[in-house]
Amino acid sequence: MKVIVTGGKGLLGTSIVPVLRGYFDCAVYDIDEWDITSELAGKKMFDLHHPDVLVNLAAMTDVDGCEDKAALAERSNVEGPAVLAGLCSAFRAKLVHISTDYVFDGEKNSPYREGDEPRPQSVYGRTKLAGERKILERDINSTIIRTEWLYGPGGTSFVDRIVAIARTRGHASVVNDQQGSPTYAGDLALPLVRIIERDLTGIYHVSNNGSCTWYDFAKAIFSILRMNVEVIPISSAELGRKARRPSYSVFDLSKLRRDTGIEMRNWMDALEDYLTRAP
Ligand SMILES: NC(=O)c1ccc[n+]([C@@H]2O[C@H](COP(=O)([O-])OP(=O)(O)OC[C@H]3O[C@@H](n4cnc5c(N)ncnc54)[C@H](OP(=O)(O)O)[C@@H]3O)[C@@H](O)[C@H]2O)c1
Repeated sequence: MKVIVTGGKGLLGTSIVPVLRGYFDCAVYDIDEWDITSELAGKKMFDLHHPDVLVNLAAMTDVDGCEDKAALAERSNVEGPAVLAGLCSAFRAKLVHISTDYVFDGEKNSPYREGDEPRPQSVYGRTKLAGERKILERDINSTIIRTEWLYGPGGTSFVDRIVAIARTRGHASVVNDQQGSPTYAGDLALPLVRIIERDLTGIYHVSNNGSCTWYDFAKAIFSILRMNVEVIPISSAELGRKARRPSYSVFDLSKLRRDTGIEMRNWMDALEDYLTRAP
């Protein structure tokens, strides 16, 4: 099966592409070679590869940056998916698109299911939701995978940032009023493979199991790395980031479990494995 991956050289792509290559014939691109907002570039790539599946990882992912650059966020996160949906329709390819927990407002206090009403609180969340809708409103074979709190070797994530802060300052102030599920980027690979192989459609929530706050996440990182760091719990208001984040965005993973048979591992097991594995 021929698979094209767009935005494939970022955090998520770096971890999942090597696994995808074990199952499919993959061509991987990023913005330097293929801007997904360009219909012309897309058509050339579809003419070249004739893919069965397009996996879109491309997005403007700087959540606070999106607040200042809403037009740019709109292009990559809304127009880009719309262009890809048009191409997949014309070439009869399946479109698998990655989205985010930030489509939710965080007001729920039990795990979010795929059918729960989204109500984004930020430009990033709003544009990612609009991107989902551009795809779902087309009559094409498509799957939306929402994920959250990613880390991995392919980009700068919370894990790298908090370790760097602790190394310079010896302490770290970390938000303790947002709860979610830290997710190792590589753990998305198998769900993605199953979704493609079984030709599943619609929305799927995919994250590591269990949940914590960013404060708990930081404590776990320092504990695994045996770093003696004072971790100070603070509120989102104290941190004062530009974009509002959901205070609760844990996913219900039962649809994934039912349709793929995959039981995602606990976030702490994945984190320990990632931090202690030889590079
Ligand atoms: N990271 C997370 O915690 C997280 C959580 C939930 C969902 N997601 C979703 O997961 C997907 C992958 O995220 P990631 O963390 O791997 O992000 P990433 O590291 O920023 O990778 C995304 C890649 O897409 C590229 N890109 C941006 N606009 C593009 C365009 N118009 N055309 C082609 N490529 C473009 C980026 O290039 P530049 O770097 O030059 O912009 C980057 O290389 C995204 O859809 C994101 O919304 C991520």
